[in-house]
Amino acid sequence: MNRPLRSHSDASSRNGLLEDLHRVRDLTVRLCDPLSAEDCVVQSAPETSPAKWHLAHTTWFFENFLLLPYLPKYRPFHPRFGFLFNSYYESVGEFHPRLQRGLLSRPSLEEIKAYRVHVDQHMVMLLEAPESANAGEVGARVTLGIHHEQQHQELLLTDIKHLFACNPLRPTYREAKSPDSRTNPSLDWLRLPAGMYAFGHDGDGFAFDNEMPRHRRYLDEFSLASRPVTNAEYIDFIAAGGYRQPTLWLSDGWRKVNEARWTAPLYWERQNGEWWQMTLAGYRRVEPSEPVCHVSYYEADAFARWAGKRLPTEFEWEAAAGTQTPGGNFLESGRLHPQSARGGASQFFGDVWEWTQSAYSPYPGYRPPAGALGEYNGKFMVSQLVLRGGSCVTPATHIRASYRNFFYPQDRWQFMGIRLAA
Ligand SMILES: [Fe+2]
Repeated sequence: MNRPLRSHSDASSRNGLLEDLHRVRDLTVRLCDPLSAEDCVVQSAPETSPAKWHLAHTTWFFENFLLLPYLPKYRPFHPRFGFLFNSYYESVGEFHPRLQRGLLSRPSLEEIKAYRVHVDQHMVMLLEAPESANAGEVGARVTLGIHHEQQHQELLLTDIKHLFACNPLRPTYREAKSPDSRTNPSLDWLRLPAGMYAFGHDGDGFAFDNEMPRHRRYLDEFSLASRPVTNAEYIDFIAAGGYRQPTLWLSDGWRKVNEARWTAPLYWERQNGEWWQMTLAGYRRVEPSEPVCHVSYYEADAFARWAGKRLPTEFEWEAAAGTQTPGGNFLESGRLHPQSARGGASQFFGDVWEWTQSAYSPYPGYRPPAGALGEYNGKFMVSQLVLRGGSCVTPATHIRASYRNFFYPQDRWQFMGIRLAA
């Protein structure tokens, strides 16, 4: 089922692109099946968005960047949806404030589903029309829209998890499949020699602009842990007073720990001497052998310092991940939670996004694309850190070794974990 998505360069058949588009668009709707209409309205934090907004914004992306410019005589489904569902594209026009996305009880969920059907039908018309001189650009934008929608599938699930964790009823999004393994995984170190390594997208298949240009860098010899840090190891850090020792923390991190009164990862609670956590399958005990997740960069960095190690750079991560077989616990596994490492599995891909110590910056020679789509990635290249590898709610066909995710150091609501370096 995890056939790679086509890129515009190999979409000799537009039917193939259309098939990928349908597959990804259908999955977004199916991810909302366990949700009530009320679940879809609420925005539980400034950084999250309501499910309804994700459904509409991904649709606006196709309407705005494909149907309006390339389908003759196309008329917008609703004259104000461009204002409501543009996320951050200043060059497209004004948009509704991000912090007020949860106030939109209208349009209704049904209206937004009708918006999706309307745009999907017109996308078929666009892709089944005789090829025009714009065929290359249309193919590239449809491919981008598909990968954009996959990013929002992950956000939809992390935002619902945050919302449900705010609810004392502790709702279950979906019952969990039982885990494959619960043995405490051994820890080895993968040593890579000093030398020149190549980084970034190698030209095969789709990649975002921020993964380019491919370039070379010199790395000193380094070692990476063979698996992410487990809950058991993180509990040791907590028990050793990790959250109370200022010398372990970056200055901004120590301020955040004290302001927010952090004493454990997001979603963890102490009950009768045991750690419990909220998951997409409801409230349950913290399983010691699973990778720790929902930690900020500050916590990842403090843990690494306590352990006498450090976090990897994104380049060390990519050099090591390139030697590993892709595959792992992604959205399609249905587990929706990180799993304990199984014999020899390195978990570079899937389970948890891994914080790196690298600032999210442009690669040498990077230029954002011309026009509004140049706002997709480039303008966020300040004050954020790179995470690598994808998580248990990332679609399997979305990830690759060169993929750069980025968040602010205090963010915790994504499935963020820790891999140590030395
Ligand atoms: Fe978006």
